[in-house]
Amino acid sequence: MLEAGKLVRDLQIMRDEGHLSDALLRYAVRSIASSDDRFSWVGVYLLNAEANELWLHNYVGSPTEHAKIPVGTGVCGRAVAEKSNLNVPDVSKEENYLACSPDVQSEMVVLIRAGDDIYGQIDIDSEEAAAFTDDDDLLLQSVADKLAEQLAAERR
Ligand code: SME
Repeated sequence: MLEAGKLVRDLQIMRDEGHLSDALLRYAVRSIASSDDRFSWVGVYLLNAEANELWLHNYVGSPTEHAKIPVGTGVCGRAVAEKSNLNVPDVSKEENYLACSPDVQSEMVVLIRAGDDIYGQIDIDSEEAAAFTDDDDLLLQSVADKLAEQLAAERR
């Protein structure tokens, strides 16, 4: 189970110490990946607005060929196009899906955003069917919001 409150506090301490988003994004991905056996692949994609693509920042799990994903493509790109988090309980039923590994059964995408400004997303795969709950969405959103604070501060 992800201890999201502790992770958010750790991320704020890193910010107070002067760490930049690169360090925060790596720490968050590692912490989320090690928190729960349901999570087989955890990564962060950042939105490159000029290219209108998601660019993979860092991940824990099997290597993926999806280093860059156009907005609108796959579960990841659809979340950005629809400005909405996505919980896909059965990826085999998803028409707009980019497979990473044949063992993945479900996927959750939580946006890193400040209102309508989308910076990127936390993307998590699971080898269990329907692995993700509304609670996961809430906890991961609290982490994503802290990451968004730092990304916003660096873009000012
Ligand atoms: N499944 C995602 C692609 C990213 S991988 O899971 C790492 C998608 O459909 O967008």
